[in-house]
Amino acid sequence: MEKFDTTVIGSGPGGYVAAIRCAQLGLKTAIIERHHKLGGTCLNVGCIPSKALLDSSEHFNNAKRYFETHGINAEKLELNWPRMRQRKDDVVGQTCEGIQYLMKKNKITVLTGHATFKDAQTIIVNGEAGAEQTVNTERVIIATGSKPSSIPGVVCDKKRVITSTEALSLEKVPEKLIVIGGGVVGLELGSVYNRLGSVVQVVEYLDRLIPGMDLSLGKEVQRFLKKQGMEFFLSRTVQSASVKGKSVTVVATNKNGEKVEFSGDYCLVAVGRRPYSDNLGLDDIGIALDEQGRIPVNEHLETAIPGIYAIGDVIAGAMLAHKAEEEGVFVAETMVGQKPHINYKSIPEVLYTWPEAAGVGFTEDELKAENYNYTAGNFPFKALGRARVSMDTDGFVKVLADKDTDEILGIHMVGARAADLIAEAVVALEYRASAEDIARMSHAHPTYAEAIKEAMLDATGKRSLHI
Ligand code: FAD
Ligand code: NAI
Repeated sequence: MEKFDTTVIGSGPGGYVAAIRCAQLGLKTAIIERHHKLGGTCLNVGCIPSKALLDSSEHFNNAKRYFETHGINAEKLELNWPRMRQRKDDVVGQTCEGIQYLMKKNKITVLTGHATFKDAQTIIVNGEAGAEQTVNTERVIIATGSKPSSIPGVVCDKKRVITSTEALSLEKVPEKLIVIGGGVVGLELGSVYNRLGSVVQVVEYLDRLIPGMDLSLGKEVQRFLKKQGMEFFLSRTVQSASVKGKSVTVVATNKNGEKVEFSGDYCLVAVGRRPYSDNLGLDDIGIALDEQGRIPVNEHLETAIPGIYAIGDVIAGAMLAHKAEEEGVFVAETMVGQKPHINYKSIPEVLYTWPEAAGVGFTEDELKAENYNYTAGNFPFKALGRARVSMDTDGFVKVLADKDTDEILGIHMVGARAADLIAEAVVALEYRASAEDIARMSHAHPTYAEAIKEAMLDATGKRSLHI
């Protein structure tokens, strides 16, 4: 029986990054993954395939709607959906192979099978055809991620009532897609099919979209997605989804308690994800889950059992790949006695529609709720030369700063390439920059990033230059 310093369970962005950092720090490391392909949700059925389809569908949409304006005649434009899907699968395949290569390069032992704790330092790995391996380990990092969740009355048959996983690989483009949930999954995958010609209706429980992000972003996103053809039904509580042949009927109630029905050929259930801690044998080693099924950890991300850590979607906090990665590095460095830190308030959130939406730091709602003395600066994309050049004039940048000290508290934006622009906001927050600091820094012209500088100028004495 081989003995490892550290064994990581799960090879998503939390697990594989933790394993690499452990190996870099000189720990003899193993990683256990129940699937043959490494990379977890993110690489196989999450971030990577969804962004691949978002990119392809955006090319199709641009060709259809905007090429003519640019002076490009693309005649007989046709969608080749099997090819689009294949390209997505190719990207996923290459990315997963890349992780396999990284494991080899860092001399990490990869074990395939479902991991279960026998005791705190012994893990049983159940592979295919009854194959069983026993792993002896000093420490463990649990990085088992999450699974799509559903709501009462809605059973995902994975054929017509589907989760994000099936939505990434549908045989045909839906004629009408009903999306339950106006969060990130619903809007990103809803966008994909809207661009490819489906009628997309989003049924959302709350009175706003993307509830985790600043309210102003949800409003702007709803405005431009509506312009793009998506339909929104807010403040609707879904009661049931039923399948008859090739048709799905979703029944919801509105604010007045009246019944409303939606029907389509597919229904995407996108109401959040639940931590995946099934059949890990946690009970047997004395780790109790919290009321939401997450593994409780302390400030070192260590569970109730010394030497067993947990990271990523399976613990509390945002279910984001980059949050899981930060935690993976944090735990590896903690294990060898280093003193790393994670500033959870500086972890950005991004919505990859087009234009994109991104935010980091405090939202305006949070500051209002605390009666915080803040000031806000805004700048619209339509006043940017760069945005006019590309016809990407939707959106804005909003900065929230402390009224007394001018320290930046939050930055929220909707606009072209917001997913990349938010990196500047993260640096500003991490270094506790003031709005004046950023306002005085040169931003290349013409770029979308100029909107950030202009919003800072607006926050510091209403002195934006281009509006
Ligand atoms: P996971 O990636 O879920 O990996 C966990 C792994 O553990 C899995 O491979 C699983 O098979 C394995 N496992 C579980 N139990 C066991 C066991 N007992 N034994 C062995 N192996 C086990 N996040 C972003 O930041 N940006 C995005 O753009 C983004 N897009 C997304 C799009 C979609 C459609 C979805 C569904 C999610 C998206 N996410 C995105 C979220 C992101 O995928 C997750 O936050 C991230 O994958 C979590 O990483 P993790 O390492 O905690 O777990
Ligand atoms: P989500 O939490 O973002 O959105 C779920 C939505 O469903 C919410 O708006 C909620 O109000 C709504 N809802 C809940 N119950 C409902 C009901 N009964 N009827 C109607 N609406 C209901 O969850 P989502 O979109 O499923 O994403 C899961 C996770 O995956 C997220 O936590 C996210 O962090 C991650 N993810 C991240 C992406 C990114 O970073 N770009 C992309 C996709 C997923």
